[in-house]
Amino acid sequence: MSAFSGFYKKTIQERLEILKTERGISDEEAKVLLDSGALELETANRMIENMVGVNHLPLGVVPGFVINGKKYVVPMCIEEPSVVAGAAKAAKLAAQCGGFAADADEPVMTGQVQLVKVPEDAIEKFDSNKGKIAAKAKELASGMERYGGGYRECEAHLIETSRGKMLVAVFYVDVRDAMGANTLNTLLEGIAPMLEEKIGGEARLRILTNLAVRRKARAKCIWKKELIGGDAIEKILDGYELAANDIYRCCTHNKGIMNGVDAVAVATGNDWRAVEASVHAYAAMDGYKPLNKFYKNDEGDLVGEIELPLTVGTIGGAIGTNPVARIALKVLGVKSAQELSMVMAAVGLAQNFAALHALSTVGIQKGHMKLHASNLAVIAGAKGEEVERVVERMAEQKKYSAEAAKEILKEMRGG
Ligand code: MEV
Repeated sequence: MSAFSGFYKKTIQERLEILKTERGISDEEAKVLLDSGALELETANRMIENMVGVNHLPLGVVPGFVINGKKYVVPMCIEEPSVVAGAAKAAKLAAQCGGFAADADEPVMTGQVQLVKVPEDAIEKFDSNKGKIAAKAKELASGMERYGGGYRECEAHLIETSRGKMLVAVFYVDVRDAMGANTLNTLLEGIAPMLEEKIGGEARLRILTNLAVRRKARAKCIWKKELIGGDAIEKILDGYELAANDIYRCCTHNKGIMNGVDAVAVATGNDWRAVEASVHAYAAMDGYKPLNKFYKNDEGDLVGEIELPLTVGTIGGAIGTNPVARIALKVLGVKSAQELSMVMAAVGLAQNFAALHALSTVGIQKGHMKLHASNLAVIAGAKGEEVERVVERMAEQKKYSAEAAKEILKEMRGG
């Protein structure tokens, strides 16, 4: 691998030359990697190390979301067929029932400083110095105050581990419209020497927790019985009940919710790994559970509710560097990170409704295969109207494969 030594110091072109000689990348393939779309190559090069190109995903929009009476056009960036279609269907039905009601906590992120080798009276020392520690934390997060955010609270607890007693000092900061990692981590690194001085012991990890339990968003929707039918409601409830009682189903149930949540996170330039980590840790807090609830109200309507800790922002991070993320946020038209998190919660709930509705009635494959078939037709080389015709023939023949698509296209073009 010596050809790769100092790879990070090379220009993009030099890196591609190495990939050509070392990994057999062709000139044509190098061109594909360099097709950066809206993201300028130089910008991408500054975003990560060893950059050799830009990957692309489809960006779609769902126009029909009504949340707290406001109409949203929701951008979703995802490669999986049927996710956007599912969200659109569920959102349309929800809108006919009055839409989603949503709310969100103040955008408070949580961070931890780990102190090891602490004295017996570490907690007492933390408590007796709490005023000074809080004042320092406030100063370190003061940049957030002009936006209405800033330091909120701190506390500490001791944990017994196989490597001895440790103190965990916990800091809560309102980060307003940022995701907040930089603000939190700067504060935690800045306060660690004071903690060592006042409490004793040695600081080790100084990092936010992605399990942002003080930053939750909630959404609710009542899908009316007259609209979706009592039979479909019973079937959806049967499906939900399996997730509530069986971890194998629950994992897939929650994955379906995250199809929607992640697609909005990616579209808006948010750190979807942080979103995933937070939501899944939350789902597992009291034994792994569905992220939402479905039940019937007295009128026999289907009530869906969801609550998710969502660490997302509308400023900073990749939002500043990725022009598509900025455009997606403009399309969405949210005024704050809290509003974005409410939209994401509603999309997650809608996505699960769509999945359960399809799975418990016609099955997921019908819609899925139609979209998959279009992919296959395009891969086989179909252009324009040919795509639709190849898809129809594949459906008639019930054969969904790249070979079948190629064969049909060949026949259509006269052999
Ligand atoms: C596929 O990406 C998502 C589903 O499996 C979700 C679910 O089963 O609820 C359809």
